[in-house]
Amino acid sequence: MCGIVGYIGKKEVKDILVDGLRELEYRGYDSAGIAVLQDDEIKSYKAVGKLKNLEDKTKDFASDGLAMGIGHTRWATHGKPTELNAHPHLGEFSYVVHNGIIENYQELKSSLQKDGVKFLSQTDTEVIVHLFEKNYKELNDPMSAFEKTIDTLHGAYAVLLITKVDPEKIYFAKHGSPMIVGNDDKGDIHFGSSDAALIGKATEVIYLDDGDYGYTSQEGISIFFDKEKKALNKRALTGDKISAQKGGFRFFMEKEIYEQGEVLSDTIIGRVLDEKINFEELHESFFDGIDEIKICACGTSYNSGLACAYLFERQAKIKTVVEIASEFRYKEPLMTKNTLFVVISQSGETADTLEALKMAKRAGLKTLAICNVDNSSIVRLADHTILARAGIEKGVASTKAFATQVMAMWMLSIYVAQIKNTMSKDEIKSELNAMRHIPNAVIVSDKLHEKIKRLSKRYLHGHGFFFIGRDMFFPLALEGALKLKEISYLHAEGYPAGEMKHGPIALADSELFTIALMPKTLHYDKVKSNVEELSARDSTILAISPLEFELADDFIKTTHCEHPMSEFFEMMVITQLLALEVSVRLGNDVDMPRNLAKSVTVE
Ligand code: G6P
Repeated sequence: MCGIVGYIGKKEVKDILVDGLRELEYRGYDSAGIAVLQDDEIKSYKAVGKLKNLEDKTKDFASDGLAMGIGHTRWATHGKPTELNAHPHLGEFSYVVHNGIIENYQELKSSLQKDGVKFLSQTDTEVIVHLFEKNYKELNDPMSAFEKTIDTLHGAYAVLLITKVDPEKIYFAKHGSPMIVGNDDKGDIHFGSSDAALIGKATEVIYLDDGDYGYTSQEGISIFFDKEKKALNKRALTGDKISAQKGGFRFFMEKEIYEQGEVLSDTIIGRVLDEKINFEELHESFFDGIDEIKICACGTSYNSGLACAYLFERQAKIKTVVEIASEFRYKEPLMTKNTLFVVISQSGETADTLEALKMAKRAGLKTLAICNVDNSSIVRLADHTILARAGIEKGVASTKAFATQVMAMWMLSIYVAQIKNTMSKDEIKSELNAMRHIPNAVIVSDKLHEKIKRLSKRYLHGHGFFFIGRDMFFPLALEGALKLKEISYLHAEGYPAGEMKHGPIALADSELFTIALMPKTLHYDKVKSNVEELSARDSTILAISPLEFELADDFIKTTHCEHPMSEFFEMMVITQLLALEVSVRLGNDVDMPRNLAKSVTVE
């Protein structure tokens, strides 16, 4: 997703900006740009594709002495990845970069157009710079104009703005998208949308809060909230890239669990609209003649596919079959042209999944990838791709990629339901509403994490774990068991709760640990009786549910139970944290478990 950098100082501005953008590359982008203000003149450069293209364009440019600049990597949401749509966006005398989404941009754009403003891009961002200039012309004071502009914007944003009418300052605002401002020991000012961009540059930083705005100059940083000036809450920034990349967490996996709210917001941005799902990367006609979906994937991605098959059948009323790619390859599968072939992959390089995709293409099927890595082999081969937007996932045990895959496919199922008219407008609206709440459902509270840390000490031995659930919570149980297996090396299985009585219950005794996923909104009573059966055979039960369950030995109470998917995502986080804490107690390498690889490019 998009990245922002900014700088005021005497070093070569272009180098500082491009270097900062390079640190944000991992978030993914499709174009980049910078604007540099020096001696009352603004120079701006933009390029589609990798930063190398921007560097080529700027190779003859260098700042000299005190100057300032803003830079941006863009991941297209409103409008295609073109040079015109790349940031910074310009007005008559100002430039702006922006992360997030301006929800009321259409209305603002129309009103500015009525005033005769010409728009060059299709982005929501461009309204910010025109609005600022309009306000400046009225108020004749840049700070008041900026304040008024920010007040008018609805949505999520992190914004940097430079203007010739106040050539010593960078104006900034943050609401809903991250922004950090800092300084080095010479007093040079640095901005970044993540501290990755600031490491090795700034020594002290301020993590801006929602509602903060202000300006910086050589003189220092001024932050306002609700028109009141705020005290600066500076913190030292580590110079160690690895520990900084971990953002204060012990492991990448832990960090990735915690950042799921943020990446899920990225996944839905520009796609979950007021009344419908919109995928810029798809056209409705792609689904012409399709009346079946076949999903093929491996590992965690397979589990996300299994979960979403329930949604495709329930919501989009389309027959959906999920297969493990390594099995699919050799079973001489029947492939018919009315089938949409969907592959799911975090890396986009998994050999079995890639080969299955090739087979589907050879058979003439329409193909779609749900993938996290743009330009990967799978993305290049599939007819279309929905990018999961999880950012780089470093922990070998996948967490945030799973979350974004499920979210992407839930959106896809609603998208298909729209095309096939299988849900009413109200039903769709209520799904969209539920989607917007998911980033909240995955927030890890200190209390929850502490509880799981404490509980984990009771789950280190025994002769095995059964994660059980029904409906979509069965694939979630599979995924919970897979997480635990991968990093704790304990034996764990995911099982449909109703199937335990057909064999596995024979294993039940006090040394068998049952992790019971008991959502309130989906078959609660059915799961409950399955758990009672296990409890009666003395299995140790850890129940995860919003409803108290007196037979549980341990109980984790969930809070988001307004929709099955909010329950799903909240329980997902709990199972991830449980695996993490058990693994930590066993002294394992959480990020690099034995025998496993992040990307498996062999059969
Ligand atoms: C490996 C990884 C798993 C992953 C699987 C599929 O086994 O260790 O975490 O789920 O590959 O990878 P993909 O990149 O295709 O999602």
